[in-house]
Amino acid sequence: MKKILIVGAGPMGIAHLKSFLNHHQRYEIFISDLRMNEIKVKNLNLFKKFKNINISKNLPKNLTLDLAIISTNSKERYSIIKDILKYNKIKNLLLEKFIFSNLKIFYLFEKLIIKKGLKNIFVNSWGEYISKKLKINEHLKNNKKLKVKININKGGMLTNLIHYLDFVSQFLKKNKFQLIEKRVSIINSKRKKYNELDGVLNIEMGSNTISFNSNFKKNFQTIEITDNYINYLIEINRQGNCNLYKNKKLLKRIPFPFASEKTEQWYRNFTEKKNKERFKNNYKKIAYLSKQILIVLKGIDKKISIT
Ligand SMILES: NC(=O)c1ccc[n+]([C@@H]2O[C@H](COP(=O)([O-])OP(=O)(O)OC[C@H]3O[C@@H](n4cnc5c(N)ncnc54)[C@H](O)[C@@H]3O)[C@@H](O)[C@H]2O)c1
Repeated sequence: MKKILIVGAGPMGIAHLKSFLNHHQRYEIFISDLRMNEIKVKNLNLFKKFKNINISKNLPKNLTLDLAIISTNSKERYSIIKDILKYNKIKNLLLEKFIFSNLKIFYLFEKLIIKKGLKNIFVNSWGEYISKKLKINEHLKNNKKLKVKININKGGMLTNLIHYLDFVSQFLKKNKFQLIEKRVSIINSKRKKYNELDGVLNIEMGSNTISFNSNFKKNFQTIEITDNYINYLIEINRQGNCNLYKNKKLLKRIPFPFASEKTEQWYRNFTEKKNKERFKNNYKKIAYLSKQILIVLKGIDKKISIT
C-alpha cells in the first residue's frame, strides 16, 4: 500500500485528499494539520470514507513516504519539509504554489534535496496543463510578437501570477521575463500575513508583451492573446471550464484541473518511468519562474509576501 502524507488540511489539502477517495484502498493516508481538532469536526464525514487514514496534529515518524504533499501556505513550507525529512524518507514531493516566498529559502531547499537525494518534485501549477490541453501553441505557431492581456479579479494577481507565467511560457517557449511597467499598489491578501498587488504589471518575454490587470470585475478570469491578425480569448470560469475562443467563436472547452479530481492521477503519472523526466522539469521551470517573480517584487517592496 502506498503511503501518502498531506501536511496542511485547509481547502487545498482537503482537495488533494478528495482525489484519493476513488482508489482509497490502494493508499495509506497520513494527514497532519496544526488545527486538526477544528478540521476533524468539519471533515469528519470525508475522513470516515477512507479505510486507512491517520489524522494528527503532528508529523509522522519513521516512514518511507511514497508521496508527501505540502499544502500549507508558503512561509512554513520549508521548515515542514525539513522536519519530515529528519524522521522520514520521501520518494516523491508535491508542493503547492507559491513554492517559497523568499529566494534564500529556495537555495536552502535545493541544497537539502541534493543532500537527501530527493529528485521527484512536482509543483501544483495549472498553467502549462491548460495551455497544452487547449493546444494554444498549435494556434500560435508563426506568431512572434504577441500581446497577452491577463484579466484577474482584485486580490488574485500575486497569488496566481505563477499559474499565468506557467501558462504563457508553455506556448511562448520562454521562461525568462523582464518587468517593463508597474502601476501597482500593495494590498493585504485575504490570507493573513500575505500581500496582494492591485493594478497593472507589464512584462516582456522575448518579443512578446504580457500585461496583468487586476481591475477585472467579472466572475471569471480571462487571457486575451492578440497580434495584428488574430484574437484568442481564454476564459477560466467558476463553473470549472476553460474555454478557448477565436474571434469570439468557441473553439475548445476543457474542464479545469481541480486538485480534488487530479492529484491522485498526477501521482500515478509522475511515478511512471516515462514521465519522470517531465516532472523533474516541472520543478525546475516553476522554481525558475518563481525566483524571477521574487526578484521583480523586491523592486516593488522588499517586504511583499506571496502564497
Ligand atoms: N494550486 C492551486 O491552484 C492553488 C489554489 C488555492 C490555493 N493554493 C495554495 O495552497 C496553499 C494552501 O491553501 P489553503 O487555501 O488550503 O490555505 P489555508 O491557510 O486555508 O490552509 C493551510 C493549512 O495549513 C496548516 N498549517 C500551517 N502550518 C502548519 C504546520 N506547521 N503543520 C501542519 N499544518 C500547518 C494551517 O493550520 C491550515 O489549516 C497556499 O499556498 C495557496 O496559495 C494553490
